[in-house]
Amino acid sequence: MGNTLKKIGVMTSGGDSPGMNAAIRAVVRTAIYNDIEVYGIKRGYQGMIEGDIYQMKTTDVANIIQRGGTILKTARSKEFHSDAGMQKAYEQLMQHGIEALVLIGGDGTFRGAVQFFEKYTIPAVGLPGTIDKDLAGTDFTIGFDTAVNTAVEAIDKIRDTAEAHDRLFVIEVMGRDAGYIALHSGIACGAEDILIPEQVTHIDEVLDRIDQDERRKKNVHIIVVAEGDDFGGAKEVFARIQERFPMLDTRTCVLGHIQRGGSPSCADRILASRLGHAAVMALIENKTQLMLGVVNNEIAYTPFKDAVKEHSIINSDMLEMIRVLSA
Ligand code: F6P
Repeated sequence: MGNTLKKIGVMTSGGDSPGMNAAIRAVVRTAIYNDIEVYGIKRGYQGMIEGDIYQMKTTDVANIIQRGGTILKTARSKEFHSDAGMQKAYEQLMQHGIEALVLIGGDGTFRGAVQFFEKYTIPAVGLPGTIDKDLAGTDFTIGFDTAVNTAVEAIDKIRDTAEAHDRLFVIEVMGRDAGYIALHSGIACGAEDILIPEQVTHIDEVLDRIDQDERRKKNVHIIVVAEGDDFGGAKEVFARIQERFPMLDTRTCVLGHIQRGGSPSCADRILASRLGHAAVMALIENKTQLMLGVVNNEIAYTPFKDAVKEHSIINSDMLEMIRVLSA
């Protein structure tokens, strides 16, 4: 049967992530190749409400595969969570004749989608675009690999200066609810300790480990902490270290939003291109209300509500390994 879909909308929403542009490019080019018009919705759900929508051509996505950020811009819309906001958004989609949507974003984007599609029927698929990797149904999210590599580059640099001064560093990485950036960057940089929200942080044990390292005359100690750790971020951990070890030369560094920017890695560009292409093909095949991901190198389809229900599981082998490798 031929393709009956004629007009789709695409948007990026929530925190931006490197590779979102590559995903937009793949969506636009796959749709136009299949004779489907594409409308870019600016600033996520907020632009949907305000009708900030324009038709995209293949040339609009030229020379963006390598760029960080998102040409469609992004926002976290409070208004969309109200009934009136959702109604306005739906009316704008109808006015523009948009028949289906590709939503690129993270946990908040798909929670919004679940709410919206309970009230309004419009076919939609989602692409996991978040540095946090806090969605079920995919091995990786668009932007995670780049963010981790940015963190690794920064932590390596900090280790150089830490070693020169025999200092202890507490480095905070992003991840409000998820510890993947901390876990992966911490392992890759040989961190002495990694504190993540998925595991209860017993601060006295962390301090005891510092004590043991001190006795062994280990002169550099790097602790990577996720911003959302249950004990707190770099500031809180630093305060407790200072209290118990006032003689140690301790510093903190919050890596912050540098982790969200920059040119996407090769892995993120490929993931984004595959998922953007698959999103349009899914809509053509009437697959809807699903987040697309990649599991074991195959495209996987997960209902929005399941994608946001739980994070992908932290591998316990990795957690156990940290102790062994940092000994
Ligand atoms: O996009 C995810 C994320 O980077 C989280 O890791 C972080 O907690 C949050 O966004 C920060 O959001 P904002 O840029 O709105 O302060």
